[in-house]
Amino acid sequence: MQEMRAAEDLCAGTVYLQGVKLFYRQAEANARARAAAARLVGADPEDIALTQNTTHGMNLGVASLDWRAGDEVISATTEHPGCLAPLHALQRRFGVRVNLISPPMSAEKLLQAITPRTRLVALSHVDWTTGEVFPLADICAAARERGILTLVDGAQSVGNIPVDAPATGADMYAFTGHKWILGPEGMGALYVRPDCEVPSYNVGYASIAEGASFDIEGGYALRKGARRFEASTMSPILAAGFAAAAEAVHERGTEGFEGIRHRADRLMDSLSGLLRVTLRSPRPARSGLVSFEIEGIEPKDAAERLLQQKFVARFIPAPNSYVRVSTHLFNTEEELEDLTRAVSGL
Ligand SMILES: Cc1ncc(COP(=O)(O)O)c(C=O)c1O
Repeated sequence: MQEMRAAEDLCAGTVYLQGVKLFYRQAEANARARAAAARLVGADPEDIALTQNTTHGMNLGVASLDWRAGDEVISATTEHPGCLAPLHALQRRFGVRVNLISPPMSAEKLLQAITPRTRLVALSHVDWTTGEVFPLADICAAARERGILTLVDGAQSVGNIPVDAPATGADMYAFTGHKWILGPEGMGALYVRPDCEVPSYNVGYASIAEGASFDIEGGYALRKGARRFEASTMSPILAAGFAAAAEAVHERGTEGFEGIRHRADRLMDSLSGLLRVTLRSPRPARSGLVSFEIEGIEPKDAAERLLQQKFVARFIPAPNSYVRVSTHLFNTEEELEDLTRAVSGL
């Protein structure tokens, strides 16, 4: 009998210990992911919440305001559904007016669109349709002076161009690990300015302040930092993958970003030599995104035909209906030439 109890104790102890170890392993992986994400955007790890992807971060940001019918949000006509769909949800749910302006984006254009009801500006850092970089610092400063929050879609910027999220002046800046960071799908991050005091409504045990004990009446404090937006358990495997990828991109530093732009310029040089190709990205390249049109071929068909030749081109829908390709850290000169030949072949 005594032996059985001892065995039970031992077993319970082992399971408990394993649980504790697992919990700490997860906490460690998450901390490493937050630190890697923070380094990549020039922020403090305290100001980073882990998310699933950019769109998740955009939804968290949008949901942090107490919307009223008639409130307004400003965005751009060229934004991705990851930015616009959460805004359309506000429109449907609260009667918020979504005011879309057409790029090129500038603080002057923003100022013209602002009304006394404007509460949020939600914009990309890098325009996914052309690779243009929006003048975020000016835009965010103009919004801030008028007490308007800014939420940035960094899906196409982090890992593509150097990003200093605090220097952009954005209140919240969402990005993902699976695009330019080359990490696994399923983990991203949301930077939240330390003085941006919007509440989080995505809450659970993970958002409760350190040392505060949970009580069923709700009289406990939430974390003050960005982690108030993290609700619960996440995958340590994704966190480890995200961290390793973000660390590797960060190590490439300025040289890595220059290489990305250099390859985009090289590609644009050779594509511009093709008779029926019109480039739609700014030159010199601002990022690794290269958009173009081919006279007489629908962008969707062109993207599909390039895919058949193993070039992953993207079809961008209206209003900027283009074919888009990306040049990244590891693309070779030979690949750029092969792609130009493939486009020429179309
Ligand atoms: C500008 C932009 N925003 C958002 C997204 C969606 O990103 P995620 O899958 O990280 O939510 C994309 C995807 O292509 C994008 O280009």
